[in-house]
Amino acid sequence: MNIAIAQSGGPTCAINSSLVGVFKQGLLTEEIDAIFGSINGIEGIINDELLNLKTIIKTNEDMELLRQTPSTMLGSCRYKLPDYETEPAVYEKILHTLTVHRIEIFVYIGGNDSMDTVVKLSAYLKNINSDIKVIGVPKTIDNDLPVTDHTPGFGSAAKYVAATAQEIIRDSSVYSIPSVTIIEIMGRHAGWLTASTCVLRANGEEAPHLIYLPESDFSSEQFIEDVRKEMAKHKAVIVAISEGISLSEENSAEFQSGAVDNFGHKYLSGVGKYLERLVADRIGCKVRSIELNVMQRCSSHICSKTDIDEAERIGRRALSAALDGNTGQMMYFRRISEMPYAVTIEMTDASNVANLEKMFPKEWISPEQNQVTDAAISYFLPLIQGEVNIMMKNGLPVHFQRPLQMR
Ligand code: F6P
Repeated sequence: MNIAIAQSGGPTCAINSSLVGVFKQGLLTEEIDAIFGSINGIEGIINDELLNLKTIIKTNEDMELLRQTPSTMLGSCRYKLPDYETEPAVYEKILHTLTVHRIEIFVYIGGNDSMDTVVKLSAYLKNINSDIKVIGVPKTIDNDLPVTDHTPGFGSAAKYVAATAQEIIRDSSVYSIPSVTIIEIMGRHAGWLTASTCVLRANGEEAPHLIYLPESDFSSEQFIEDVRKEMAKHKAVIVAISEGISLSEENSAEFQSGAVDNFGHKYLSGVGKYLERLVADRIGCKVRSIELNVMQRCSSHICSKTDIDEAERIGRRALSAALDGNTGQMMYFRRISEMPYAVTIEMTDASNVANLEKMFPKEWISPEQNQVTDAAISYFLPLIQGEVNIMMKNGLPVHFQRPLQMR
């Protein structure tokens, strides 16, 4: 039999490691012949754009390089599979590609939106009595998938964000004049990544002095008040703020384009700049905003080894699960011990995850709504542990790329 793998949704530092996991397990499985990679997620299956991965990933070194390469080697998509009833032709195209290439297992690495594809496609295939199995592998820097303890990709993003925040803290405190520095962090509707900056407290840092999440109640007036209070205590105030904090519609319209993706998600960005202007107008001190932007999901030079290793492991297990006859499932991590940290890999019906979001726990947010509690530190710390021995060339990390003619 042949199998196919695709990557979907926003990139991470670990999504290629999951691809390596599936690929390695495929190489070890005698009954598997070709391992196809689908270009741009499910779009590649719909349009019959597949690559024979064995002709691209040829050596152990290739696999090692791929593990340290951020983003999606196969490209990605934000494609919402229509319902079968409204567009059966899309499903027929998918079936055609899978059948023509004798693909019996399709592994989809993605987030909550991509699990929607796993649910719909596996249901369709079951309905037509096809034996083709569809299995989901989680990923997202947002860490917002239900059921799983955490998502591959999150630990590396959290490690980068905290390390960068620490560097910003050092830089911001050099002058004698008071200042405010606002760090804008991704995460859409969930504040996990912004909250994870609290790990700096484990190393004795006091900053970020203020942490605001989409799950906290936010008001611009209270924000200014909070900043003033912190300025009375610290010369250089550091604020970590999630891109998705809830501002009133009129305020967000000032800095957001209003554009949405296929799933109806707004492109969020710019709240840091907005608050920078507010601080400048209302407080009038030195103020900067720093949007970490895509760097937080592609800075693999400081990725978490725990994250990269786990991403590979969960990819391997996904293929084994499909070979055991499972379909419509997503693999997930269950934390079985905090100290020492240990997880098991299990599976859940992908419908328990599709289109759903797991929010940062309210009980880990301070009563003032502007900090997170120490309980969060113990949750986050194990996920950012370990360093990958990054291969370098000319002083730069080496990335694995598809050959030019295949891009
Ligand atoms: O995949 C999650 C994410 O990185 C969010 O944190 C962010 O809001 C969004 O994707 C950005 O989307 P895009 O990659 O389409 O700009």
